[in-house]
Amino acid sequence: MAGGVGSRFWPVSTTDFPKQFHDMLGTGDTLIQKTFTRLSQIIPKENILILTNEVYNDIVLKQLPMVKQEQIILEPAMRNTAPCILYASLKIKKQNPDAVMVVAPSDHWIEDEVQFCANLQHAFDFCEREDNLMTLGILPTFPNTGYGYIEFDKLDSRPVKKVKQFREKPDYATARKFIQSRNFLWNAGIFVWSVKSVLNAFQEFQPVMFDHFMKGYDDYNTSKESDFIKENYPLAENISVDYAILEKAQNVFVLPATFDWNDLGTWGSLHEKLDKDENNNAVVNARVLLENASNNIIRAEGKKLVVIDGLDDYIIVDKDDTLLIYPKSKEQEIKTIVSKLK
Ligand code: GDD
Ligand code: MG
Repeated sequence: MAGGVGSRFWPVSTTDFPKQFHDMLGTGDTLIQKTFTRLSQIIPKENILILTNEVYNDIVLKQLPMVKQEQIILEPAMRNTAPCILYASLKIKKQNPDAVMVVAPSDHWIEDEVQFCANLQHAFDFCEREDNLMTLGILPTFPNTGYGYIEFDKLDSRPVKKVKQFREKPDYATARKFIQSRNFLWNAGIFVWSVKSVLNAFQEFQPVMFDHFMKGYDDYNTSKESDFIKENYPLAENISVDYAILEKAQNVFVLPATFDWNDLGTWGSLHEKLDKDENNNAVVNARVLLENASNNIIRAEGKKLVVIDGLDDYIIVDKDDTLLIYPKSKEQEIKTIVSKLK
């Protein structure tokens, strides 16, 4: 899935060029390139589909030259993750009704690819055998309100655990309660299921959306598909798969992940993953002269010289005609600047 906007990474991530297409870590690869490489360790390249908005088609082709046009599923409108997953699942069903699939975000940091593939293989084996929806869970470290929370049975000693409750983006007090109870994992947003199971879930919990996309089923993977999608995709409800399916289904299981994970959702989470100087400053693409500066993340373009004195815990980003100087403690609010500017 590579159709989100990543507005908390403004001004680098913009609607025209969202974060999954940027080299956020300064490694030379963009996040979608890293994701594709990671997934292709376990999935044949030609079986990987990229779900994105039609306006990003050229960027995807340029950044992933090994991908054929048929592998890019284009959305004429942004409707969050439920519609694109339903649409893609129906297209996969037409090719192989017995397929088991993984749905993965395109913008995460995962370094241990060996463990990542081992976890996926485990999940594939589990979902091939049973009618289940599986998600990968992450041991939580603080009451982050931007994640889904998964309650599992602590006494269940099996590697894959039955989910008691899935709660998407709880408020802070609830998230704190969840963390204190030690019965919860974060949802990594990486799902594994058979095409049959996910379509059953859509049919049961999102019958309107299911019927809507089924109307075009005969046209999928034919020359008539794009006309149907142009007309009908924008009419689908704007809702994420977490609210649409995971919060409602009873057959959800979680596999606690054995790899380090970071969703690179904010400048602060990126700061955690970058190399730092002795004062915990992380610098990307900039030359710096720092005095009394600590815990900052500094990013510029074209090796611009950035001089800072007396600044702690700030985000400093220089991009084209915009300069952002913002306290890291308020990083979640960057999203609102973007809407104010509109
Ligand atoms: N194709 C497509 N179309 N992709 C989309 C769309 C869309 O309309 N909207 C979002 N995406 C992509 C994003 O680019 C990202 O790769 C992925 O889907 C997840 O969307 P986010 O918008 O980043 O979701 P989130 O971070 O708020 O929440 C999800 O991820 C968390 C972990 O990072 C949820 O699954 C949470 O439960 C989870 O904890
Ligand atoms: Mg995200």
